[in-house]
Amino acid sequence: MDDKKVGFIGAGNMAYAIGKALVSSGVIKAGNIMASARTRTRLDACWKDLGTKSTLDNEDVVKFADIIFLSVKPHLICDVIKQIKQSSGPAKLFISVAAGITIATMNETFGVPTRIVRTMPNTPCMVECGVIVYALSSECLPSDGEMIKTMLDPIGLVEEVPEKQIDAISSLIGCSIAWYQMVIESMADGGVKNGVPRALAYKMAAKSMEGSAKLVLETGNAPAVLKDQVTSPGGSTICGLYELEQSGIRGAFMKAVDAATKRNQDLGKK
Ligand SMILES: NC(=O)c1ccc[n+]([C@@H]2O[C@H](COP(=O)([O-])OP(=O)(O)OC[C@H]3O[C@@H](n4cnc5c(N)ncnc54)[C@H](OP(=O)(O)O)[C@@H]3O)[C@@H](O)[C@H]2O)c1
Repeated sequence: MDDKKVGFIGAGNMAYAIGKALVSSGVIKAGNIMASARTRTRLDACWKDLGTKSTLDNEDVVKFADIIFLSVKPHLICDVIKQIKQSSGPAKLFISVAAGITIATMNETFGVPTRIVRTMPNTPCMVECGVIVYALSSECLPSDGEMIKTMLDPIGLVEEVPEKQIDAISSLIGCSIAWYQMVIESMADGGVKNGVPRALAYKMAAKSMEGSAKLVLETGNAPAVLKDQVTSPGGSTICGLYELEQSGIRGAFMKAVDAATKRNQDLGKK
């Protein structure tokens, strides 16, 4: 990927998470990255320290880069595409990270055959522990999927998925980060209530969540098997589980995924 130039139109949280990880993992040199934003605020506060190039003109990014991340808010994607489409062409690969915006909508807005990848990344990309799912448009080259995998592999788990699954997967990998933080926070609150110092409680809860996730990924066991392994008859775990079930925790998480998926679908309709 040494010779590839990467651009970001929109320089906010998600773009910075990917840009920072591309630089720190050594996949793309900082000098081969250019980011644009509406104002200089974040470009100067964050991107400058990474050593990337920056601009307030989105067309500069398209002219500079081979691979361009469209990383503005979903409602701005079509306006941005209209603004840059004159400078685009078959040599450029556009990677959208916008929730809900379909390949068909972006294709229609470009108005000419364009290589588009719809992705959904999450913010743990910033600490090289992200998840990125992607779907390729029919104009993409056979090599585009491999290039996406090579570029993003150092920053997370990269999976190609059917586009129709992306709205639901976005809930599982994007929105869920906020929900998992709520779990860590409330577990820690429970620890504090029982006398554990807050900083220690955050560390213990977060590390246990990391370990729990690793057990699923590395053993291949279903969560139910791993749950049963630590739930002894008459023990403290089953007492806690009983409380959680009484509170309807499974239904609450399923409803959250439903609500977020519906919202992602609605975002794509506007
Ligand atoms: N945050 C997440 O967890 C997450 C996860 C997956 C996907 N996404 C997707 O990532 C995208 C960006 O979300 P975000 O959370 O990173 O938003 P954000 O932090 O608010 O960043 C948005 C960026 O877009 C810039 N911008 C606004 N209008 C622009 C324009 N016309 N041209 C160029 N840049 C413009 C903003 O400029 P200023 O800096 O000057 O305000 C800012 O840098 C969204 O489509 C979202 O669906 C986010």
